[in-house]
Amino acid sequence: MITKKTVADVFSSVSRKYDFFLNLVTFGNIDKWQRELLQMLDPEGNRLDVGTGTGEILLKSQNKGLRVGMDLSLDMLKIAKSKCKVCKFVLGDAENMPFKSGSFGSITLSLVYRHLINRRQFLKEAKRLLREGGQLSLLDINKFTLTPLLIFLMKYPLKPLGLLLFGRDKWEFFIHSLENSLSVEEVKLELEEEGFEVVEVQKRLLGLVYLLLARKG
Ligand SMILES: C[S@@+](CC[C@H](N)C(=O)[O-])C[C@H]1O[C@@H](n2cnc3c(N)ncnc32)[C@H](O)[C@@H]1O
Repeated sequence: MITKKTVADVFSSVSRKYDFFLNLVTFGNIDKWQRELLQMLDPEGNRLDVGTGTGEILLKSQNKGLRVGMDLSLDMLKIAKSKCKVCKFVLGDAENMPFKSGSFGSITLSLVYRHLINRRQFLKEAKRLLREGGQLSLLDINKFTLTPLLIFLMKYPLKPLGLLLFGRDKWEFFIHSLENSLSVEEVKLELEEEGFEVVEVQKRLLGLVYLLLARKG
């Protein structure tokens, strides 16, 4: 079973190579997508980046208020802090965030939403933390038609190789994260059911990646 400790351990173990790896697997596009996500947001107010990882979103943010990042992985946060000295970083869980209601004008999640174990609980927290009319923006992988085939290959023929290269915890995590990927239509529905109004969706890389902007209703 995937627990939050597994998530934290997996990301801590890859933290030093994370930026390099992410740039590679996105064909050098991640920087551009993150900047495009940020351009969708109002610059006013405090910004919270959930699952901030190595802090790239906050580093690129030009909002006028505080820049706060939170993550389950201490090793990711250490790298983030070394990059952005003026940002605040908090070790914590997206499903239970230690901030006062209405503290933020915007909340961002880049490549995080599908990793959350209880997404509904996160959305309730996000709604609580945003001020009236506050914005929630997501960048993530869209579920695509070959996802079930990829999961089958990873669960069966590729499993021995995967276990050998990555170990059981990481391999199971990779499979879980694919099984958990959602289509942007499913994400939109979840947000709307939790009281957000989805105002914009953009797709990148033949629809494999989506950028989404929602507003607290
Ligand atoms: C794929 S990385 C994305 C990092 C960064 N946002 C980016 O765009 O590169 C996912 C991050 O989400 C964090 N994460 C996953 N579940 C979380 C949770 N429940 N609460 C806080 N952080 C979480 C992980 O520790 C990891 O650093």
